[in-house]
Amino acid sequence: MPKLSVNGKIMDVEPGRRLVLAIEEAGVNIGHRCGGNARCTTCRVEFESGEPARMTRAEYEKLKSGGLLGKIRLACQIVVDRDMVVKPLVTAENTPQWNGDTGPTPDTKVMPESKWYDPEELQLE
Ligand code: FES
Repeated sequence: MPKLSVNGKIMDVEPGRRLVLAIEEAGVNIGHRCGGNARCTTCRVEFESGEPARMTRAEYEKLKSGGLLGKIRLACQIVVDRDMVVKPLVTAENTPQWNGDTGPTPDTKVMPESKWYDPEELQLE
């Protein structure tokens, strides 16, 4: 099973588990204010290791439009398929205006489309 390390906590994760859900299961109140649909970017993480190169079209377009490509990744658009070390950037603790509401629970399936591409493929389209 892949190992996920988040804020110093290491846990085994069922392969294919959505990263945003695995981070929550590690006890981190990560944001998912759009419900996991690649619209809000509150599920943003930095990777220390294990960053997948491939990304969904929705993640690519959201990061590109926000000038965030190469800086962060969206945990709602990634599944845990290898060992990963990540740092969640937006949480209930550092966003007090949410009053603890991290957003609607994301589906277990990556939305809006569970399909991943090499970024070069997406650039050409
Ligand atoms: S972009 Fe909104 S939860 Fe990922």
